[in-house]
Parts: sequence; structure tokens; C-alpha cells
Amino acid sequence: MKAKFIVFEGPDRSGKSTQANLLSDYLSQREADVLLTREPGGDDVAERIRRLVLDPAHKVSPMAELLLYEASRAQHTQQKIIPALEAGKTVICERYTMSSCAYQGYGRGIDMDIINKLNDIATLNLKPDLTLVLLMSDKYFTERGEYLFSDRLEREDEAFRHKMRKGYREIAAKTANAVIIDADKPVAEIHKTVLRELSNYAILDGE
Ligand code: TMP
Repeated sequence: MKAKFIVFEGPDRSGKSTQANLLSDYLSQREADVLLTREPGGDDVAERIRRLVLDPAHKVSPMAELLLYEASRAQHTQQKIIPALEAGKTVICERYTMSSCAYQGYGRGIDMDIINKLNDIATLNLKPDLTLVLLMSDKYFTERGEYLFSDRLEREDEAFRHKMRKGYREIAAKTANAVIIDADKPVAEIHKTVLRELSNYAILDGE
């Protein structure tokens, strides 16, 4: 398996971490050298930005919010993801550029051209080989998590979540190498679908 860049996307609590971990274990057992990482965060500076941007104690303007996510992305992509890919590792990342389009674009209403431009600058134009977008019914959002202990973005209301989820559908449909996966299904079944998509995109050889 050649070094590839695989991204899990989707609303909060759609099972991204579970699936990213399952895939990482699967690939590691097959002797792939894997870096499992996440946005916002994934390196010391970016993790500090993460704590700042998600802290419910702060009121953050939409543009400041976008720029903080982009700053975290620039740091993480340039300090961690690109060097790992260059070293031959397969990178599995929870969230990437599509999150800003869905949350700050569709959710907050920031112009998509600005977001796309900033995404390209932050990532030096690095695109994923495959983006797996996990979408579950909104009812699971409230069922799966303890609302009271949620971060600043998770506290947004249903209308925001509705716009953001619509965003994921529309963006995924027009993004190269992106697929939507039904995340209402059981964990094991989703994992099988993930592996099937990796084969479809020739990321897994002969499986
Ligand atoms: P998570 O790590 O639990 O998914 O939390 C990250 C939160 O940040 C989540 O609510 C989505 C949000 N987010 C954005 O709004 N824009 C972004 O670009 C990224 C990466 C995350």
C-alpha cells in the first residue's frame, strides 16, 4: 500500500473517531506505517488553538473562528501531514478542509470563495486521496452525547446543524474523491463500507 491521505468528515458524534481508529488498526495490522491525527489540533501549537476555539467561555466572531481553524490547519498540515506523507506514511485525519466549508461556510454563512482560498493557502493545496463523509440522522446527535458537556460548536442549535449537514451533502457531491457513508448503520458495517471504498479508490490493493 502506497502512502495515502485519508480523511474522515461529518457532523459531531457521527462516529469519525471510532472509524478512524478501526481503519488505523486494520492498516497497521497489515504493516502499513500509519499516522492517525485530527483537526483542529494534531500538533502542540494546533492543539492550543483547538482549546481556544472550542472553549464555550469565549464569544468568537465567525471570521476569527474561520481564521483560527485555518491557522491550526496550516500548522498541522505543514508540520505534520506533509512530512508524514513524504516519509511514506499513510495519514488518517479526522476533519480537514471540508469541515470549514460545512461549519463556517454553510453554518455561519461565510463566502465559500474565501474559505476555499484559505483552505488552499493553509494546506499548500494538499488534497485527500479519499474523504469519507459519515452522515447520521440528526436525532442521534442528541441521543449520542451529553449536551451539557459539549464544546462551543456542539452547542449550536438545530438550525445550524441542519445547514451544516446540508453543506456536507452538497460539498461531498461535488468534491473529487469524496463519498458519503450512512452512519446510522452499526459500527462493524460502516467499517466494512470504509474498506470497500478504500478498494474502490485503489487505496487497498487487491482486497
Ligand atoms: P471534534 O474534534 O470533536 O470534531 O470538534 C471539533 C469541532 O470544531 C467540531 O464541532 C467541528 C468544528 N470545526 C469547525 O467548525 N471548522 C473546522 O474547520 C474544523 C476542523 C472543525
